[in-house]
Amino acid sequence: MHRFLGVLVVLVISFSASAQKPDLDAEGHAWWQHAVFYEIYPRSFADSNNDGIGDLPGITSKLDYLHWLGADAIWIAPMFPSPEVDWGYDISDYYNVNPDYGTLADMDRLIAQGKQRNIRVLLDLVSTYASDQNKWFQESRSSKTNPKRDWFIWRDGKGPGVPPNNWTSMFGGSAWQFDAATGQWYYHYFYPPQPNFNYRDPEVEKAMFDVSRWWYKRGVAGFRLDAVDVMYVDSQFRDNPIVGTEKNALGDPVESEIYDKNQPELHGVLQRLRKVADEYNAVLIGETWTSDIAQLKRYYGEHNDEVQMPMDFMFATINKLSPADFRHQIDWIEGSGEWPVYVLSNHDIRRVYDRYSEGQPDRPSKDAIAKLMASLYLTLRGTAVMYYGEEIGMENNDPKRPEDVKDSQGRRGWPKEKGRDGERTPMQWNDTANAGFSTVAPWLPVDDHYKTYNVESEKKDPQSILNYYHQLLTLRHTNKALLDGKYIALNEDDPNVLAYARSYKGENVLVVLNMSATEQSVRLDLPAKKITASKAKTLTASYNAQEKIDLDKISVPPFGALIAELQ
Ligand code: GLC
Ligand code: CA
Repeated sequence: MHRFLGVLVVLVISFSASAQKPDLDAEGHAWWQHAVFYEIYPRSFADSNNDGIGDLPGITSKLDYLHWLGADAIWIAPMFPSPEVDWGYDISDYYNVNPDYGTLADMDRLIAQGKQRNIRVLLDLVSTYASDQNKWFQESRSSKTNPKRDWFIWRDGKGPGVPPNNWTSMFGGSAWQFDAATGQWYYHYFYPPQPNFNYRDPEVEKAMFDVSRWWYKRGVAGFRLDAVDVMYVDSQFRDNPIVGTEKNALGDPVESEIYDKNQPELHGVLQRLRKVADEYNAVLIGETWTSDIAQLKRYYGEHNDEVQMPMDFMFATINKLSPADFRHQIDWIEGSGEWPVYVLSNHDIRRVYDRYSEGQPDRPSKDAIAKLMASLYLTLRGTAVMYYGEEIGMENNDPKRPEDVKDSQGRRGWPKEKGRDGERTPMQWNDTANAGFSTVAPWLPVDDHYKTYNVESEKKDPQSILNYYHQLLTLRHTNKALLDGKYIALNEDDPNVLAYARSYKGENVLVVLNMSATEQSVRLDLPAKKITASKAKTLTASYNAQEKIDLDKISVPPFGALIAELQ
């Protein structure tokens, strides 16, 4: 009898343990490995109540569009209550929705409606720092003996008016702010109203894990983890070494950030945060700025126990149409044995449409480059994270006058640094006033090109950037080689054309990307890569490609992209 009970207990335990395991496909891949994520900047996506500000019901109203497009998950940039010093990245309440964007009930509806369309919702966990209006900071600053004093980083100055050390804020000036109430300085890597949490106090991570749990229980499928590299600072608060004598763009000395960034302790928090995520089958995307592959690899965790999806910003910021540079970066991540996470732009980076078409004389070339870049990161092995509007060829609409600038970075840096408003303008839905985003003037001006570049018009045009994305995403979701195939670099010496195959159990898909402004004839080194094929069938192309391709004479127009099945 005892024995039987024992077996039963084991069965029950193993059953509930396996119930917690994510569903894996035949290749051992979890859902997010084949997913396409789509970043939404909530203030700029869709305005449901016509106050000029995007909101959650607006997002919900566009779920059918996102489903049609082929997005499997959305991550919404911070939609929590915020004094908007840094447009949501200064959170005053982690347990609520910014009233500009709606209510918790609106969030629940968005999650439920997303579920019906197989679109998961991820939020942005801004866990490194809070808003100075957050009640936790208010308590912390109230007295040196407050129980939450150590939740933030407080230090004595080196003398009257002299901060504790030489660390500078990424947004300019000292990273220390004097607080007269208690006569100490608090640390902020970003703006002064964004005090950094002190993760050396274990209560802080507990509070943040609780925040994540609370949202998981509401149905959130994961988080994008903000600014993880500055979660910890040196315990001895040593000065950073100064590099050279030149000042940076904000007028500060250039520091080698060895004591205020990338401290090894941060990986411990990420591992524990991941454990919490695993309890809910949730996925973590990392805002992981790195300078080499070893650093990026570190974020996956030594036992794959940290961030499942650290974004590869080295890939994102190659910033030139250089096959050699892309090849190198792809080889790096492929060689690391990790699952790549590709992204081309976001709310902090100039739009891809502008960045890769700089100096191009005309719209057809720029449009071709937009399709070329899409073809690149949507056909590689890995997960792709899109940025809203990229699929219609939205471009930067930078402020023209200093008084129009909304991003504090642009206010401080004007005119040299215009800030990030340009890549955050309203989504262009149709060719009516304000691009159908709102009936009133939106919080940021709509780009002038919206009459041509908008969802409704582009849907009707078979040659549009939008329809090209749609085709690519459809293919990516259904083609076995694109889903699971390994990456095989081809023609690795070619300075103009980036070519590769994706290969899965004898099925091979060929991708040929002409990154130059002239037509290119390509002869593929397939035998050297042990691929036997004599012809190919076009699956999709950014130009009018023939259906049957003779592998002896592949010719690709300027900035053209060809995706074909090898036969
Ligand atoms: C993250 C956000 C960025 C913000 C910064 C500081 O990097 O992506 O938009 O400005 O954090 O808050
Ligand atoms: Ca609104």
